[in-house]
Amino acid sequence: TPVPPFDLVIFGAGGDLALRKLFPALAQRNREGVLPGESRVLAVVRKEEDVEGLPKQIAQRLHEDGIPKDQIEPFLRRLTMVLLDAVKPETYKALKTALGDSDRVRSFYLSTPPDLFIPICENLAGADILTPTSRVILEKPLGRDLASARQINDAVARILPESRTYRIDHYLGKETVQNLLVLRFANTLFERSWSSRDIDHVQITVAETVGLEQRAGYYDKAGHMRDMVQNHLMQLLTLFAIEPPNMLEAGAVRDEKIKVLKALRPIVGPDVQRYTVRGQYGPGQIDGQRVRGYAEELGHGSNTETFVAIRCELDSWRWAGVPIYLRTGKRMAQRYSEIVVTFKPVPHSIFGNGTCDRLDANRLFIRLQPNDGVQLQLMMKVPGSGRLKIVPRQLDLRYSTAFDERTPDAYERLLTDVIRGDQTLFMHRDEVEQAWAWVDPIIAGWQDYTPHPHRYAAGSWGPSQAIGLIERDARSWADPD
Ligand code: BG6
Repeated sequence: TPVPPFDLVIFGAGGDLALRKLFPALAQRNREGVLPGESRVLAVVRKEEDVEGLPKQIAQRLHEDGIPKDQIEPFLRRLTMVLLDAVKPETYKALKTALGDSDRVRSFYLSTPPDLFIPICENLAGADILTPTSRVILEKPLGRDLASARQINDAVARILPESRTYRIDHYLGKETVQNLLVLRFANTLFERSWSSRDIDHVQITVAETVGLEQRAGYYDKAGHMRDMVQNHLMQLLTLFAIEPPNMLEAGAVRDEKIKVLKALRPIVGPDVQRYTVRGQYGPGQIDGQRVRGYAEELGHGSNTETFVAIRCELDSWRWAGVPIYLRTGKRMAQRYSEIVVTFKPVPHSIFGNGTCDRLDANRLFIRLQPNDGVQLQLMMKVPGSGRLKIVPRQLDLRYSTAFDERTPDAYERLLTDVIRGDQTLFMHRDEVEQAWAWVDPIIAGWQDYTPHPHRYAAGSWGPSQAIGLIERDARSWADPD
């Protein structure tokens, strides 16, 4: 569907996210003819050399992403470079002039550290650049704790209403994450079983093989809890567990998500040691390559965690007594993100000894990446007229084979949603604050109880304590084959 004509201003245009994700997503949309002719992308940079240098870098990146040359040029023609220092109000004149007095929808993507959110919004307002339809997009993490998140939300709210504030979490733009709602609410089969009555436990894993990349400054201050758990993991958990919203509409979906976040049982004080594990990778091997440990990559020692595992529970009618195990880390064995739902075993086996070792519980695997899709593990009879033999087998539905359509990158969807004015896949301030309210006591507890993260070898599935966390409950992580 085409979007209305727009001017999209990207602050932090020279940064890693803009180059790796935002420009490629827009170029892809442009290639598909979704962007109206007169729309523009205004790239805000602070260094003079970027005014000439950045378009070349963008072109190079698009080329590497496989966008044909004759598609790169038309996208670059939409680009306007703006030299501006986000904290210097006097430099905003350049942006005002570049925007002119067009009535196109103005969106401002703040792809910057969160401490710049307030000055940028204030300076945009001060320079009289915001129009009655302007939107602001705030990249995660929003602040570094509840207090700073509130401060940002309050300051932004003085300038723009909630209905024009888009807090992005790109996991919500992933096809498989959106499919969670479809899977549950368009299939009678699952929703009927989606509760403590039939579900034994849930695992959510987001494992990466990358390490620090070029982000040491940010990551070592933030740590994995703020970088991944407070947003991506908690959003996955929330969408997994929500009650059916009345309709697929921003207000209805967000209301239900907030209820889930409020139902998360707090983990405080000594419970932090019992229900959470924090780790940091040491040297190891990934795909046959030796990789350095976190401290070596960083160039000095650090107590920042690069891995987190948590056993949590929701205090709600639907989910009482169902443990949800979260696990996420850098430099793990494989890039692998999956939600695994383990159903309760059948109450009584009618099959005699020798037909199978045991009747495995049904398991639903919702794979986010790679090989996105859904698998359902069922117990099946092995064909043959001899003794009855029963084994687990998978119903396997992969996106790549089930659909001809290309799976768009999350940012492609989210950027056009902003321009269309659809907030369904963005976070309300209450969600973000509620998530911080749950995360803050865990981070505080770590200072008291586990100030030093447990070591794990790069290329492994995390510290042994994370295995202990689930095995203590006589369960185990469902690692990919
Ligand atoms: C980002 C985090 O939000 O998500 C990164 O800041 C992480 O540390 C990335 O690597 C993972 O995203 P994806 O889409 O590759 O799973």
